[in-house]
Amino acid sequence: MHQKGLQVAIDGPASAGKSTVAKIVAQRFSYVYVDTGAMYRTVTLVALQAGVDLTDEERVLQLLEQTQITFQPGEPVQHVFANQHEVTEAIRSELVTNNVSTVAALPKIREALVDRQQEIARAGGVVMDGRDIGTTVLPDAEVKIFLVASVKQRAERRYLENQAKGITTSLVDLQAEIAERDYKDSHRAVSPLQRAADAVEIDTTTLSIEQVVNQIAELIQEKLAEV
Ligand code: DC
Repeated sequence: MHQKGLQVAIDGPASAGKSTVAKIVAQRFSYVYVDTGAMYRTVTLVALQAGVDLTDEERVLQLLEQTQITFQPGEPVQHVFANQHEVTEAIRSELVTNNVSTVAALPKIREALVDRQQEIARAGGVVMDGRDIGTTVLPDAEVKIFLVASVKQRAERRYLENQAKGITTSLVDLQAEIAERDYKDSHRAVSPLQRAADAVEIDTTTLSIEQVVNQIAELIQEKLAEV
């Protein structure tokens, strides 16, 4: 029997392991993986490059309307393009990371990106990660996950990722940055980071990537068995 692919929403704070896990889960079920954080990062990069004031909502929206954001599967990370121009690495720069919360707080930018995300997910067979997927983007998603981990653990993961890339950072600074981003993401007026009432919370602090993937895969299998 041919089954329609499910919508799988994975939300949670920065560096809780969402994208790593979401990508593997998507591969396992041959679903499309959509990293919505990368979309907010891409608008931020485009706006920074254009030199516009990041709080100027109309200007940033204008730029977004002129920017096609696309993904291509890749290893170890998915490739991201802004109007066919690869931005995979540029959107992970410190400058973008430290400014993306400002852009993600603009209601019209959120509205425009949510529309694009809903369009991608319409056909099902999608694993989407972000902050507001289970609450706002895909409120009817069949599987909703909320991934959490301690600030200390998340800072240590970022530290090791940076080290692997040859970037030296201070663990204390990383902890402070993550705590600040958590605060901003959870306290903004529009679509703050919030666990959907029907989401399953998984604390990844002491779990391996494989353990988290397996837990989510089990939940998907259960849902697939129901339909
Ligand atoms: O997951 P990330 O670190 O790449 O996300 C970048 C920023 O975008 C983060 O500060 C929160 C914001 N974001 C959001 O507001 N809503 C989403 N669905 C995804 C990310």
